[in-house]
Amino acid sequence: MQFKGTISSKLPQVGTTIFSVMSKLANEHQAINLSQGFPDFPIDPELISLVNQQMKAGFNQYAPMQGDMGLREQIVAKAQTLYGQVYDPDTDITITAGGTQAIFTAITALLREGDEVVVFTPAYDCYIPAIELTGANPVYVELHAPNYAIDWSEVQKLVNHHTRMIIINTPHNPSGTIWSEEDMLALEKLTRGTDIVIISDEVYQHIIYDGQPHQSVSRYPELAERSFLVGSFGKTFHATGWKIGYAMAPKELMKEFNKVHQFVTFAVNNPIQKGLAEYLKTPDHYLEVTALFQRKRDLFIEAITGSRFTFSPAQGTYFQLLDFSNITDEKDIDFAKRLTREKKIASIPISGFYQNENQDSMLRFCFAKQDDTLLKAAEIIRGI
Ligand SMILES: Cc1ncc(COP(=O)(O)O)c(C=O)c1O
Repeated sequence: MQFKGTISSKLPQVGTTIFSVMSKLANEHQAINLSQGFPDFPIDPELISLVNQQMKAGFNQYAPMQGDMGLREQIVAKAQTLYGQVYDPDTDITITAGGTQAIFTAITALLREGDEVVVFTPAYDCYIPAIELTGANPVYVELHAPNYAIDWSEVQKLVNHHTRMIIINTPHNPSGTIWSEEDMLALEKLTRGTDIVIISDEVYQHIIYDGQPHQSVSRYPELAERSFLVGSFGKTFHATGWKIGYAMAPKELMKEFNKVHQFVTFAVNNPIQKGLAEYLKTPDHYLEVTALFQRKRDLFIEAITGSRFTFSPAQGTYFQLLDFSNITDEKDIDFAKRLTREKKIASIPISGFYQNENQDSMLRFCFAKQDDTLLKAAEIIRGI
């Protein structure tokens, strides 16, 4: 079929993502695929059974627009216990089709042409196209290896009266770093007295290592008052295919959010929401996720010790960056493709997360995989 008219693309720069490219290459060469960020192990049968029960009980019609009340209550209770912030389940939370929809909806509800949005790069790939669709302009703060630290005086210089939004992400994909209390306080100071709204992408909130606290915006009342906190059950419960997450914010922000949400999605999968509401009643279900991934991170980094790659252990997320500057001068994308073809291991070159030409020699490996897969991958990595 062919469209005979003219299309003036609203997203002329957007093509096939590096994730699709690397996964396709991994399939073609039957490589171990540590490129895309999803677990290859099953989800808890208890959660499947809870969802199944809801289906059998007949909860197969539309959920309320903002989401199942039982689930909303569980999520706000969790935020209060873990981070000390009180959200009203009636007005301050909406269940979404994954973190991605929450982010898209918050961006489109708030931004207008000419607004500026501070984005830290490397960044997860859904932020920038959403900003561009609104006619707003992303303004980049580039963070680099080895520690991806933020120079707050640089951020301060980029903030002006056009700045409408700042997007943050901790634990951070792809670097595996986490924000410190100092970072949060710097953000609080920077935004004080402004109308800037923050999107805080916290989809990896339970995947954090070595006993470090997760720096949620909801720990900081002043930040919470201007923030959308975005979460994802796909990440927490190894169910990325379910595409279910949420946004929490003060009611004035959620009111604008819902004006868009009700026409984009209206409401998300009802039996899954009800199943999750039951499942969340046992806090160990999300608290144990931290220990599970701590074990996988430790297994992976121990198994790659002695390789020619250098690295700082991931502090959060299920991604480990490996620095290959001791191995080759190749560009990251060329090296990642060559490793997939010749060594049968696929990763993601970090340049895929930057907007400008990137000079860092880093590849991102996903360790949310079965132990066997991780040990096989590590053996290959040690041989490179
Ligand atoms: C940083 C970050 N934010 C958001 C998402 C999207 O989450 P979901 O799958 O719930 O839409 C991802 C998924 O990879 C991510 O890595």
